[in-house]
Amino acid sequence: PNIILLGPPGAGKGTQAKRLEEERGMVQLSTGDMLRAARTSGTEMGKRVADVMDRGELVTDEIVIGLIEEKLTGEQGGGFIFDGFPRTLAQADALEALMARVGQTLDAVVEMQVDDAALVARITGRFTCGNCGAVYHDVTKPTKVAGVCDVCGSTDMKRRADDNEDSLKTRLMEYYKKTSPLIGYYWAKGNLVGVDGLAEMDDVSAAISKVLDKG
Ligand code: AP5
Ligand code: ZN
Repeated sequence: PNIILLGPPGAGKGTQAKRLEEERGMVQLSTGDMLRAARTSGTEMGKRVADVMDRGELVTDEIVIGLIEEKLTGEQGGGFIFDGFPRTLAQADALEALMARVGQTLDAVVEMQVDDAALVARITGRFTCGNCGAVYHDVTKPTKVAGVCDVCGSTDMKRRADDNEDSLKTRLMEYYKKTSPLIGYYWAKGNLVGVDGLAEMDDVSAAISKVLDKG
């Protein structure tokens, strides 16, 4: 199946997408990860988006639609997990057109529901493995051995430049202004399912699994 994980920064989209990759062989398509990879490899586009991202604003539709388009023509695995895309109505329309073009359908849109107060704690405690991308949290998901990735053993732990309270405020504003209209958009199309994103990680996974097994 192909699904969208929709939710504000820190809702747990990346965490759940990684689990779905491991458990179901699905393919995570995170525009945030793709943009950060472009920055790390120093491409022209990467340089152009760096400041916008660090401030917490959205990059242009054109850039992210182009990134998704490249991936959709490639391998599929057990289906796609759209993580952090679409984020505007224009992106949602573009995704629909792209999927139709490659003969795919969108099976569900999972809205991960959380409250803003919880997001601050989630974002400010987050760190990731620079080698394999595993996502951790100082309090809710520490590594078993301090500073060593549980998955790959790397000690290259990273914190994101936009994971500070100022940028988070901008990211939330962007979410409410530009992304939250997608909730009504997908509801009207009949494929929106709400999941409690504040639950324990395993319970969130179970709720998403239920959605996937239904359709
Ligand atoms: P992006 O990388 O997409 O960031 P985001 O949407 O802000 O989402 P996050 O990665 O912060 O949160 P998440 O929901 O994945 O949470 P996570 O699982 O890590 O985008 C970054 C920037 O790129 C944007 O600001 C924009 O500039 C640009 N961009 C990207 N896509 C774009 C697009 N389509 N259009 C335009 N611009 C775009 O979890 C967070 C923390 O909580 C972790 O520490 C985790 O361990 C913990 N946690 C997770 N689940 C639980 C749980 N159930 N209980 C307790 N703790 C938990
Ligand atoms: Zn790792």
